[in-house]
Amino acid sequence: MSSSKPKRIGILTAGGDCPGLNAAIRGVGKTAIVEYGMEVIGFTAGYAGLIQKDYMLLKESDLSGILTLGGTILGTSREKPYRFVNEGDSDKPELIKQNYHELELDAVVCIGGNGTMKTADRLRKEGLNVVGIPKTIDNDVWGTDITFGFDSALQIATEAIDRLHTTANSHQRVMIIEVMGHHAGWIALYAGMAGGGDIILLPEIPYNIRSVCKKIEERYESKKPYSIVVVAEGIDHPKKMSAASHLAEAIQTYTEIETRETVLGYVQRGGSPSPMDRILATRYGAFATQCIADGNFGTMVAMKNNQLTTVPLEEISDKLSLVDKDHPLILKARRMGVAFGDEY
Ligand code: F6P
Repeated sequence: MSSSKPKRIGILTAGGDCPGLNAAIRGVGKTAIVEYGMEVIGFTAGYAGLIQKDYMLLKESDLSGILTLGGTILGTSREKPYRFVNEGDSDKPELIKQNYHELELDAVVCIGGNGTMKTADRLRKEGLNVVGIPKTIDNDVWGTDITFGFDSALQIATEAIDRLHTTANSHQRVMIIEVMGHHAGWIALYAGMAGGGDIILLPEIPYNIRSVCKKIEERYESKKPYSIVVVAEGIDHPKKMSAASHLAEAIQTYTEIETRETVLGYVQRGGSPSPMDRILATRYGAFATQCIADGNFGTMVAMKNNQLTTVPLEEISDKLSLVDKDHPLILKARRMGVAFGDEY
């Protein structure tokens, strides 16, 4: 770490996008410019911009009016500079180092999910000053209680479930709704509970299709003519079809109750961030810049017990934050009759 004050920093957004990325860029950039008088550059398309030296100078005026915008003004990609597949790929880490020094950067803020933090940690080992900010709708970044993007996705998924209730009731159908989350069930659990789902299937709790069908049949027999099944995309299912299609087929076959599926997809990642995500992303951004000013490098900013803190990047690498099968919300849900497919 240099002893002089950081003067020039870079920002990049990597991995799948989510609502709140622009709020985080703004939080980093405005704090850097206004409070610390730093110069800020933004790399385009995640780590690809750092490899190709493709960047833009971000003035304070460039950061105005972006708080409410979905997506990322910098663009993003799933470029992984340490995955060597094609010829020439092994040059990428060296190119990053070269560009970092040629651009006279004092630090880079890497905004992303698990993969982004893993790469940031590799760059730390190469001697670069990096600070990570956790983002993803999946909420699966280890070391923080919450990532920004999750609350917005939750709002969208919950609204979708709310809308399915009325049509399910009119037709007396089983409605399956598949939500994102990769290997984690955070969106399914929270949206399932917020939207009054009857059955919630998570990758963390292996389900039994007979148990799912039994619950639907019991509801039917007790004059609850429709059921809402909220399913995470990451549950065990044949990969040639969506989890929702697989379940719809099986449920209709076993119960003979008309069943329909909805795969919510990328709408969960699009559009304007929720107020909570705007605040969280802004706080993470401003705090990341403070970490740079304090020389606190090689860390990811995080929220633990409602307090901003930092976690060493080396602790995060290769870990996932998954839903505990005894999560308090699951225990409460079970006591209210919500099923998770592992009953009986
Ligand atoms: O990690 C966010 C996420 O939206 C996951 O929920 C989903 O599985 C994945 O990204 C989709 O990735 P891609 O943008 O590569 O299609």
